[in-house]
Amino acid sequence: MLMVANWKMNMDRDAIVSYLDVLSKEGRWARWCAHGYRLLLAPPYPYLDFLMHELRERELPFWVVAQNMCAHEKGAYTGEVSADMLRDLALNGVILGHSERRRLFGETDAHVAAKTALALSRELVPIVCFGETEEERQSKDYPRVWERQIAPVWKEVQKARASGSETPVYFAYEPVWAIGTGRTAALDDIREVAWNLRESFGHECSSGLLYGGSVNDESLSVLVEKGTVYGFLVGGAFLDPEIVLRSFHLL
Ligand code: G3P
Repeated sequence: MLMVANWKMNMDRDAIVSYLDVLSKEGRWARWCAHGYRLLLAPPYPYLDFLMHELRERELPFWVVAQNMCAHEKGAYTGEVSADMLRDLALNGVILGHSERRRLFGETDAHVAAKTALALSRELVPIVCFGETEEERQSKDYPRVWERQIAPVWKEVQKARASGSETPVYFAYEPVWAIGTGRTAALDDIREVAWNLRESFGHECSSGLLYGGSVNDESLSVLVEKGTVYGFLVGGAFLDPEIVLRSFHLL
């Protein structure tokens, strides 16, 4: 069970120290990890190295993942961050294709597929986001949206597997209409996604399905179902370390 805290463009050094001070009071992290329950933290780029340092100092077994990365290996891409730079920081993985990057920064399915291939080549665990908009939901054609978003990515995953890559890939179903709205998908909606992924791309694709979209410690208890959800990608609620702790106590 992966619990990913996507901090988006929030936090600063002092807030990170306070956040970890709260989490450090919990003594069961090592035991939870041993049972497969792991917290992943996704800070903004400037705090990746600082957070990695703070976690080492406190011996907290959390994974750290980036919120994005460039689709190119290196070169004249002002403002971008490469997979090699993330590898340099010894990060565990990277979130790719978040709907905010698609909507606000023009990221396409092809970009997400190229980034996934590059992340796998650097043994960074990709957490690939997908999900329909409100309008697509209303159109009832949303399974085609999932397939359109995942097909090019899955093709890159298959190529990487053929070259011997064993780096896991997780797909995070984040319906745009549930992000930051307080509206959470129902368990049946997530079961439908898992079924579609299994039918279209096979068990490996669906077995690492995460859900994101207005998750908090209340909604989590309804959505946790072994065999359907492998974990959660949480934004707003997981900016509060007390909610992180309450959520882990529910698992
Ligand atoms: O990546 C997770 C995020 O998009 C979900 O946001 O605030 O609805 O939990 P939120």
